[in-house]
Amino acid sequence: MVFTREQIMDHYKAEAVRHTDAGTSTIQDVRTRDIEMRALFTYIKDGYRILEVGCGNGFVARAIVEQFQVELYAIDFSADMINLAQNQGISNPRGKVTFACVDILKLDTKHTYDLIFTERCLQNLCSWEDQKKALANIAAALKPGGCFVMLESFWSGLNNLNQARHELDLPEIPPPWHNLLFDEEQTIEYLTSLNCDYLDQNCLLSGYYFGSRVILPTIYPKEKNVTSKSILNDYFCHFPPYGDFCPMKILRFQKNK
Ligand SMILES: C[S@@+](CC[C@H](N)C(=O)[O-])C[C@H]1O[C@@H](n2cnc3c(N)ncnc32)[C@H](O)[C@@H]1O
Repeated sequence: MVFTREQIMDHYKAEAVRHTDAGTSTIQDVRTRDIEMRALFTYIKDGYRILEVGCGNGFVARAIVEQFQVELYAIDFSADMINLAQNQGISNPRGKVTFACVDILKLDTKHTYDLIFTERCLQNLCSWEDQKKALANIAAALKPGGCFVMLESFWSGLNNLNQARHELDLPEIPPPWHNLLFDEEQTIEYLTSLNCDYLDQNCLLSGYYFGSRVILPTIYPKEKNVTSKSILNDYFCHFPPYGDFCPMKILRFQKNK
């Protein structure tokens, strides 16, 4: 075990204090947040019953029900995050959201949702055993024909990113201490064993990460510190998502009918 559940809980308690209801909560790079939300929204349709696992302060959930006529159940195991989520107003919602303090490892719901999504949540679980339990609970909660949109961090993207950086003599980027990255093949194999077919993947952030984490530090003046706030990233975030150069990506699965 590389980190503990208590450390994760403390981490998000501090994050709740630092960022309150802002979109920078849990992801300081606002362009990454924007790209993630635009990608997630392409999988949502009016009329869906949706489960968001690890909703944090509810920033994304609020945006979803403002835009879509859906019934959204948004859960997180951090009471601090759920308190923030429950205390924000939503302007002219088209859909309905309910926030609840629930641990994904304890979710016990069957055949309920058209769509379940995660946004960098399951990577915070402490072991592959816990990650498998969470995936099994998610698979059970899907309706037959329902989809699981898994936006999490995978080794393949981080390894490719670091290989590109290595060629340019840039130092390796390690995974954040609070992330246990997924092995893509192992994940697909496990979800397939749970009666969920692998549909496709979306390397939504590959172009942006290649620009901001490979090109930018290479061309930047050596005496200056590169920051994701650089205005050059306003250009790089429009790079097409070619290749697999970012740990975060979406794998999509469909429960068999
Ligand atoms: C990286 S944050 C992402 C939050 C949100 N999806 C966002 O994009 O802002 C991960 C979230 O997962 C939650 N989380 C971690 N372990 C969890 C668990 N076992 N059950 C439910 N939520 C969990 C954390 O409290 C945190 O809010």
